[in-house]
Amino acid sequence: MPTKPSILVTRKLPDNVIARIQRDYDAKLNLEDKLYDPETVIRLASGCAGILTCSTEKFPAGQIERLPASVKIIATFSVGYEHIDVAAAKARGIVVTNTPDVLTDSTADIALLLMLGAARRAYEGERLVRTRQWKSWAPTFMLGTDVTRKTLGIFGMGRIGQAVAKRARGFDMEIHYSNRRRLPPEQEQGAIFHADPDTMLPLIDFLSINAPSTPDTVHWLDARRIGLMKKTAIVVNTARGNIVDDAALIPALRDGRIRAAGLDVFEGEPNLNPAYLSLDNTFLLPHIGSATDGTRDAMGFRAVDNLDAFFAGREPPDRLA
Ligand code: 8YV
Repeated sequence: MPTKPSILVTRKLPDNVIARIQRDYDAKLNLEDKLYDPETVIRLASGCAGILTCSTEKFPAGQIERLPASVKIIATFSVGYEHIDVAAAKARGIVVTNTPDVLTDSTADIALLLMLGAARRAYEGERLVRTRQWKSWAPTFMLGTDVTRKTLGIFGMGRIGQAVAKRARGFDMEIHYSNRRRLPPEQEQGAIFHADPDTMLPLIDFLSINAPSTPDTVHWLDARRIGLMKKTAIVVNTARGNIVDDAALIPALRDGRIRAAGLDVFEGEPNLNPAYLSLDNTFLLPHIGSATDGTRDAMGFRAVDNLDAFFAGREPPDRLA
């Protein structure tokens, strides 16, 4: 029997995924799910041919350079890969893979939850009920704003953006989008394309951020762009926290220059800007876009599919470098 490839798995993955890894790999597992610092990753990667990582472990160029020569592949349990310097990995001949597709639906579901939660004041309502402050019903009590038939702008119309659009059509929303390239009509499905997001922002009631974090999108939603939006608009982010400039969004939410925000991701998470916590017009979740049992199993299997292909001498299906 050929020897099993040795891999480092940096986080505790779902049981079904661990079972498959234990069957097919000589794996260093992290069953206590400790957060490894970069030194620990380097040390534990010694003798390993692959690393199955999450976005909690960072692989900038300096870390890639220090990886043991044995490491030939980094498979990340995520669709986002801004935590890995793909060019540096490529330069060292290290293959990098991610897990697209399998988390599209669960992440789009959370975007709709954020839209509804922010529009319908879910945080305030929950708090009233749980703290027994809910005293009576009144015609003007807890009035939110409708999602149905409003205008949605999607920044980043990849797989997840398109899945958000599909759901929003169920709410009879008018859909606009801005993307690096215009989609073909069968993917556009009637959504209105804006080559320049600045022409989209003044028109929309909801903004859903679905773009990857890249040097071009960091702090994309800044004070100038917020200034282009309606004061009644709602911002939703299920992509990456650093696409929003907190220093611009927080005062806008506080001063009524943006109606509300639904956020699942934060710059510096889990240490988000504490000012968000004191704002009643925010609906905040702890980065759970892909957190369903089915999706996390599928992400793990997809990462292992990539490792399996690589170690079998085939092209990994989700190769980035
Ligand atoms: C994950 C994500 O929870 O896949 C991504 O890019 O943001 C999330 O679905 C996390 O990053 C897993 O590593």
